[in-house]
Amino acid sequence: MDKFIIEGGRRLEGRVDIKGAKNSALPILASTLLVEDEFRIENIPMVRDIVTMKKVLETLGVLVSFNGNSVYIDTRGAVGYEAPYELVKQMRASYYVLGPLLSRLGRARVSLPGGCAIGSRPVDLHIKGMRSLGAQVSVVHGYIEVCADSLRGSHVLLEGANGPSVGATINTMMASLRARGVTIIEGAAMEPEVVDVANFLKRCGANIQGEGTRRIEIRGVQKLSGCKYRIIPDRIEAGTFAVAAAITKGDIYLSNVECDCIESILTKLKETGVIISKDKRGLRIRMDGNIMPTDIETAPYPGFPTDMQAQFTSLLALSNGVSIVKDAIFEERFMHVPELVRMGANLHQESDYVIIKGVPYLSGAQVMASDLRASAALVLAGLAAQGTTEISRIYHIDRGYESIEERFQSLGAEIWRLKE
Ligand code: UD1
Repeated sequence: MDKFIIEGGRRLEGRVDIKGAKNSALPILASTLLVEDEFRIENIPMVRDIVTMKKVLETLGVLVSFNGNSVYIDTRGAVGYEAPYELVKQMRASYYVLGPLLSRLGRARVSLPGGCAIGSRPVDLHIKGMRSLGAQVSVVHGYIEVCADSLRGSHVLLEGANGPSVGATINTMMASLRARGVTIIEGAAMEPEVVDVANFLKRCGANIQGEGTRRIEIRGVQKLSGCKYRIIPDRIEAGTFAVAAAITKGDIYLSNVECDCIESILTKLKETGVIISKDKRGLRIRMDGNIMPTDIETAPYPGFPTDMQAQFTSLLALSNGVSIVKDAIFEERFMHVPELVRMGANLHQESDYVIIKGVPYLSGAQVMASDLRASAALVLAGLAAQGTTEISRIYHIDRGYESIEERFQSLGAEIWRLKE
């Protein structure tokens, strides 16, 4: 398993191009299964989760051919209906094939993803969405099996105790595209990735309205066809590089960002003392003085994203005061906390929140990555820390950030990958 070695304390400066959004690309790749045709999709981040989705599609009989950040997909011909445990256990988002396969074949069998490092991850809302369209759903031998002779439009509330679900909203939207009549999803997730998937599906001929609001309306169509599409920039990657500028007291220009999508992140960065200037092509993030404390509570979009919680915890660990960070979406998403404590952070976790007493410096240490965003938080802490940080299990960061060490190196960071 590869490791990162980081010599901390370098001020990061320069320009970085933000890659395409992983969390749009995954469902968009899966949704090509809906249609028997050819596609060209651009601005796909070359990260491990995308490679896993490629394997899932290939297992199902789809031709997938990458050329840099573009992909050619051919879904003509027969496709299978089963996503096996070996692939789903590597990446939960494999469940995105459920809706498209149900729509195209009238059946699908997808391994249940199980829990993960950020807590229990139920799929009840996905099941509710499929059932509402008339599908029979059963859980047998660790697999979700769905089948239906035909699907009919329905009115469904897809909101759980922790709010709307991005995955269930997208899966139900994909399953409903060819259902008879109208489907209305209430309590829909409003994330920019939901809107991106809807825009892609509309390019394929789907009739969708209301994406980006709490109520999405889908009118069933008979025919869908392939298309050419470009994925939106990744807002979490943009946020992570912005925190890198802040935590190293640096000056980074982010190009290829959609500023509207990261408003809640920018608001919190400003509260920590970051200076932000926007122009037509991007965003300049600068930090000169002390890092100021602030409180954060994660929330569904347009609130502060849970996927930026760990990175901000690293930043606030170096602030000159006390902050509270609460994760109301994934209450157990704090695996980075004990690792940051090993680097000298003063953090105290209570149920779903962390009390952070800022310290003047972090010191390099051997730490272990536990999930995608927790590993990003450890890299950020390592970039700012005094001395050497060694991060093991970095395959987690490769799931969601393309060539991350090379891009940090180009900004002046001393970070190397140790192959094992
Ligand atoms: C997606 C993102 C992930 C992000 C999360 C929240 C992808 C591939 N992943 O994950 O990076 O952290 O949105 O913004 O896009 N829930 C249920 N029942 C369900 C489904 C979800 O109770 O059937 C709960 C979850 O446990 C969680 C909340 O709903 O508390 C939101 O989860 P959800 O939006 O579904 O997350 P994902 O789509 O899995």
